[in-house]
Amino acid sequence: MLNRLGSEQGATSLQYGIGQGTIELREQICEVMSLSGITGASPDDVVVTVGGQQALDLLARLFLDPGDVVLAEGPTYVGALGVFQAAQAQVRHVAMDADGLVPAALEEAIRANPRAKFLYTIPTFQNPAGVTLSAARREEILDICERAGLLVIEDDPYGMLSFEGDAPLPLRARRREGVFYCSTFSKTFAPGLRVGWILAPHAVREKLVMMSEANVLCPSAFAQGAVTQYLTTMPWREQIKVYREIYRERRDALLSALEDLMPAGTTWTRPSGGLFVWATLPEGLDSKAMMPRAIAARVAYVPGTGFYADGTGRGNMRLNFSFSAPERLREGVRRLSGVMEQELATRAVFGGTGPITPQRRRGSAAGDAPGPDLA
Ligand SMILES: Cc1ncc(COP(=O)(O)O)c(C=O)c1O
Repeated sequence: MLNRLGSEQGATSLQYGIGQGTIELREQICEVMSLSGITGASPDDVVVTVGGQQALDLLARLFLDPGDVVLAEGPTYVGALGVFQAAQAQVRHVAMDADGLVPAALEEAIRANPRAKFLYTIPTFQNPAGVTLSAARREEILDICERAGLLVIEDDPYGMLSFEGDAPLPLRARRREGVFYCSTFSKTFAPGLRVGWILAPHAVREKLVMMSEANVLCPSAFAQGAVTQYLTTMPWREQIKVYREIYRERRDALLSALEDLMPAGTTWTRPSGGLFVWATLPEGLDSKAMMPRAIAARVAYVPGTGFYADGTGRGNMRLNFSFSAPERLREGVRRLSGVMEQELATRAVFGGTGPITPQRRRGSAAGDAPGPDLA
């Protein structure tokens, strides 16, 4: 594929390109989005970015001044927190449950922060919580934002990685106005190419292009050419189905290992797509403090603290299931559970800050979700 790119378009693909991205790729992006239910988007409103990360950076540059408030799920994507922090904005977290963002919590956050600039949300297979905003709530959340005049940034890198039928329609498929839609080829093709995009309301698209030009001049013509070659010559729709199958099997393996092996008092989410499970530890355990012991036992996770602007989340961890084969996932959970049991035993001897829940809480919707206590 890359040979062909070199031989057929070597000269142009190694040159500067245009700031908005090639028209071929923008047309293909519209086709990709239509698979998720975003139909009728114009390539003219698409801005190609250097991964999904630059998409967030451009939107932050466009909207945020120092001291501004951004509303975001709690927990939320660590890279978005970095972008908002670099813009010197303050993040106010909004609680989720098993059905995603809680509308009443969003209303409350808007009341408390009436000048918030936008809601940043990952409604589908959320990173890190793994939960998905239900279809009914999507309308409710959009209504709330519309009434409050609050812009929505919908970040959707995982929407195509659904394990149980199609994901609910993106927010942008339901409302054109006031919703900025961001996505990336990183999770469905190749993160190394660094190609993502923003679908923006027409009125601001030009501003985003100018900002991107100031930022990177233009996205890499070579990387865009590679994505275009891939989408033109490879069975990419079939490939996404393969990912779905593999990740579903791995998700199932992780969930059943957690069920069988985790110490009492541990709860976790049950994602219907994406890459992550969010675990809540038995009371008193600290995922950040425990990390060196886990690494020594040759098992890794991401401590929950990285996903909150205010450093909370010590009682949580993000577990990834896409990378390892089922038997490795089970072995990882066995090791992690051993580390946790040891911590609990140490805590029982030397004391801790609170009681350990005596029984394992499983299966209930409340137990599955990163509840309001995590926001
Ligand atoms: C929610 C979310 N947004 C954006 C990104 C960034 O994507 P990219 O690798 O294309 O920059 C990620 C990557 O993990 C992500 O999880």
